[in-house]
Amino acid sequence: MIPVQPDRFLADLHALRQFGASGIGKGVIRPAYSDADIEARKWLAGRMAEAGLKPRFDPVGNLFGLAGDRSLLMGSHSDSQPEGGWLDGALGVICGLEVARAAKEAGGPPVSVVSFQDEEGRWGVTTGSTVWRGKLSLEDADRLTDHGGLSFGDARARMADLAGDWVSPEMFTGFMEAHIEQGPWLEQSGETIGVVNAIVGIRDMRITFTGQQNHAGTTPMHLRRDAFQGLAAFNAKIAERFKGLVTDATVWTIGHVALTPSASSIVPGKAVFSMQWRDGDAARLDRMERIIRDTAAEVADERGLGLSFGEMLGLDPVDMDARLQDALAEAAEEVAPGKWRRMPSGALHDATNLSHLMPVSMMFVPSIGGISHDFTEDTDEADLVAGLNVLARAAAKL
Ligand code: GLV
Ligand code: MN
Ligand code: MN
Ligand code: MN
Repeated sequence: MIPVQPDRFLADLHALRQFGASGIGKGVIRPAYSDADIEARKWLAGRMAEAGLKPRFDPVGNLFGLAGDRSLLMGSHSDSQPEGGWLDGALGVICGLEVARAAKEAGGPPVSVVSFQDEEGRWGVTTGSTVWRGKLSLEDADRLTDHGGLSFGDARARMADLAGDWVSPEMFTGFMEAHIEQGPWLEQSGETIGVVNAIVGIRDMRITFTGQQNHAGTTPMHLRRDAFQGLAAFNAKIAERFKGLVTDATVWTIGHVALTPSASSIVPGKAVFSMQWRDGDAARLDRMERIIRDTAAEVADERGLGLSFGEMLGLDPVDMDARLQDALAEAAEEVAPGKWRRMPSGALHDATNLSHLMPVSMMFVPSIGGISHDFTEDTDEADLVAGLNVLARAAAKL
């Protein structure tokens, strides 16, 4: 048994949400490398030190709290979406902190903690853990830009004074990540715990149509080369073309659009947008990519638009480790008998990257209303504590 303290865990969870508090509900605005994110990471490093862990920032801002040369690793991320909830990522980090702290106090098994940087993909997809895993080089990461044009290299320079060496993955026997479900299934079935068996794959790419910027009053419709109309036509066509290929579990999103110059009386000369798609089958993701590229080229051709594709970032679907899953399942049955299930994750997590380095598992607690990536994201306190207890019991079984 690792004697975790729910009150201390909840207090830390609420303390973390003060960094970048949005003032709307419990929401946070704490994107990677924002002032709020950096301050939160410094605070976390302090809490780790107080718990007897050795805090260490690596060159990309991942923050580890180390419990010796070889240990189990727990954690998640403490950066948020531009409009984020208080639990996405934070729950896994603070659960990890409490389990590590309690284990240390009780002389239990060594547990280290991590908060990965830019899980939310301000610079693409799970940047901190993707570089740590070695899938993306630091040089290539540094060249990535966010939607405002800030490079990852310039952003991470903001924490250069804190950055230490890389932490070797060899130090860890396995990784456990607690997270909110961010979807509706646990709440709808009245269950408390999800033991994750797989995480979907993701692809993310920036697409640009360029047309002719012109006067919105004097340019006849048939003479326009309107970049936004290209985007609108592309959006309608891909939905048609995906039919027959996608399943109910496939999703795609255009979540960011920038029109230039973005004015009511100007035919847009440029449309830059994000295209993201997710599925549990890597082959299907690849076939979707072909449709996306071909359809964009066809639209550009029909409308006399220029077209360019940014770098395609992504992670393939992965399965979770069977032994670690079973430890969580056993613990879930003890804490919430009959009120848990095994389930795949439709959200992406750092656990995907870590599954290429060590045995990995994930645990979910319910999200109220299935809402996440929104200020109103929340989870019942009893479910947060149940999750903490499951994690502590599972860690003790390993
Ligand atoms: C990351 O939070 C994602 O799944 O979008
Ligand atoms: Mn998350
Ligand atoms: Mn998220
Ligand atoms: Mn995520």
